[in-house]
Amino acid sequence: MQAWVIGNWKQNPATLSEANTLLEALVAANDKGTQQQCQLMLAPSCIHLAAVSARLQDTFILTAAQDISAHSDSSGAYTGDCSARQVADAGATWTILGHSERRQYHQESHETLLNKMSNAFTQRLGVVFCIGETQAQYDAKQTFAVLDEQLSVIKALLTQRLEQSEPQSECVNTLAERLIIAYEPVWAIGTGKVPTVMEVEATHQYIKETVASFHKALPAITVLYGGSVNADNASDFAASSMIDGALVGGASLKAESFLAIANAFNPVKG
Ligand code: PGA
Repeated sequence: MQAWVIGNWKQNPATLSEANTLLEALVAANDKGTQQQCQLMLAPSCIHLAAVSARLQDTFILTAAQDISAHSDSSGAYTGDCSARQVADAGATWTILGHSERRQYHQESHETLLNKMSNAFTQRLGVVFCIGETQAQYDAKQTFAVLDEQLSVIKALLTQRLEQSEPQSECVNTLAERLIIAYEPVWAIGTGKVPTVMEVEATHQYIKETVASFHKALPAITVLYGGSVNADNASDFAASSMIDGALVGGASLKAESFLAIANAFNPVKG
């Protein structure tokens, strides 16, 4: 399975000029022949998405939005929102959805995420769907119950599409080709605390089995780990066949650390 390393820039950098500096360093590394065999993707802030996508158009790096509108996949009176169509028109081919910071600061619900996922797939965007438990839930050993609840959005989407009489193979293919899960324990995000590789493996296995149980024709889903991944610990995660890549926040804001993480996930994992 191909590995993925995705940089979630969040609300960074503060200016387009700084974003360009970071981008040029990444592109230059590629030009020097250090192209990663794993698939790289960047998720800049919405305001920088078009410029970053344009710069990366003929490179090996894909772009993603960090979020899309739940209300319409195209256009409408939704102040402050950016639609899946607008994101695709800006040159992105993917979007992150359900990041814990969106769940926390924007109270994103099951319904909201279901609409967002549906809008993304309608506009043929891929979705990096983030799930993960809080520290309190981890301490209370509720991780799998929390993940069940969060993953139920995918099951609901499948049911919805099948009820709308989309051919079974089409909606299963959409999920197979355009859905990646990022397991990000909330307590590991930006904290420097990480679960053990064994813990991550057990959780990834659970996620893969759960998604596979939603439909018999679904192939094994790609599951990335996210939360304080850095140049020093990336190779520990990369060594596991259960970990298909990384979603990287802080360490994606420096070309050197992001490329070191990408290198750790090279070559293509078997
Ligand atoms: P972090 O963030 O790498 O800074 O912990 C990861 C994320 O929020 O996706």
